Amino acid sequence: MRLTFKTLACVLGLTVVSSIACADVTENWTKSCASCHGKDGGGHTKAGRMAGVKDLSNADYQNTFTDADAAKQIKDGLQDKNGKIRMKAFAETLSDSDIKDLVAYVRTLKK
Ligand code: HEC
Repeated sequence: MRLTFKTLACVLGLTVVSSIACADVTENWTKSCASCHGKDGGGHTKAGRMAGVKDLSNADYQNTFTDADAAKQIKDGLQDKNGKIRMKAFAETLSDSDIKDLVAYVRTLKK
């Protein structure tokens, strides 16, 4: 598992570092992702069930996508074959570096 120092600082809640560096992957996760994926990635939310999310804390599921796949999907979103949006696209709202941090954060949810 690859972890940036920043992610690690966020996860461990190192307040000294997080006040500067952690701008703010956990906040982005809570704000933009947890509604579907759940705080712990388990996806046990109403919106998550409706969208049909899978359990991001599951190691086998995490092995099905690369960091690049994940970043692309966060950017472009995901639609079903009828064009219905399953996961929103975040290219407009999140920077590349936010997205990179979120991918690293998702990796930390793996149990
Ligand atoms: C509207 C609900 C919804 C929201 C909000 C949402 N997702 Fe998803 N996410 C999904 C669905 C649905 C899938 C696909 C599940 C599947 O593989 O069938 C998914 C899959 C993923 C995957 C796996 C990618 C892959 O390549 O298979 C990652 C990583 C992910 N989401 C991260 C995020 C992050 C980070 C955010 C916040 C920026 C986010 N999601 C917000 C619904 C959502």
